[in-house]
Amino acid sequence: GTLSEELSNIKIAVIGGSGLYSLDGLEVIGEVNPLTPWGYASDKIVVSRTTHGTKIAFLARHGRGHYLNPSEVPARANIAALKHLGVEVILAFSAVGSLQEEIAPRDFVIPSQIIDRTKGIRPSTFFDKGVVAHAMFADPFDASLATLIAEVAKTACPDVKFHTDKTLVCMEGPQFSTRAESNLYRSWGCDIINMSVVPESKLAREAEIAYQMICMSTDYDCWRVGEEAVNVAAVIANLGANSANAKNLLGQLIKHVEIGLEEGSLKSVVELKGSMRFSGITDPS
Ligand code: ADE
Repeated sequence: GTLSEELSNIKIAVIGGSGLYSLDGLEVIGEVNPLTPWGYASDKIVVSRTTHGTKIAFLARHGRGHYLNPSEVPARANIAALKHLGVEVILAFSAVGSLQEEIAPRDFVIPSQIIDRTKGIRPSTFFDKGVVAHAMFADPFDASLATLIAEVAKTACPDVKFHTDKTLVCMEGPQFSTRAESNLYRSWGCDIINMSVVPESKLAREAEIAYQMICMSTDYDCWRVGEEAVNVAAVIANLGANSANAKNLLGQLIKHVEIGLEEGSLKSVVELKGSMRFSGITDPS
């Protein structure tokens, strides 16, 4: 087909967070940078093909040189650009701090819940300026993808400890939390903390794109007695190992997601399609 055909109808996207700025070992087909009604995405979207022939879109959330802080990420443009390419599934990676003893640095966590502590300063809906819709968000992630990821991880990265069904608190940043805040989040039952899951996950839901975040622990934040409080050096020290593990995981995960999409076996992904039809509240007449 033509290059423009090659660069469209891409069902699976990966959003890379801190430390994950590219995917290795894939045949790059091209780069796209669609102008959306919400501007341009964080960086050009790299479209590649796996050895199994699956097309995959990759977007670096903070840009490939890490020049966007979490509050500056153009999340609406990012999700709109991926939707424009035909994306139905987003596998989103993020470095996180651990709020629980049993989640050590370099462990991976598949969260199932979110507590939003961004201060409402990030634009977090596509539905404004006369069009109102209320998407369901009780379960912010995709349960079918979560199950698949945990299953694939057993063979793809047997040495990495995976934790599932955890609660992720999203703070505004860019400064890290105080000790009092860190302990408050622990008292709320939060397991991990980052600065990026909101509004990305909310916008994916509005766009009817199945979304699962895969969190990679880098530090114990600042709650742990006898441990130095989180700083950038500590985070960076673990990013390399985490991104190597993420790439190993993706090496097997992508083909399983594609098979799941083809067979319609990812139940929650199938159910998501058309869900926003029932979320609009503005009188259509
Ligand atoms: N990302 C990685 N570690 C973090 C922490 N401790 N707090 C917020 N975001 C993080």
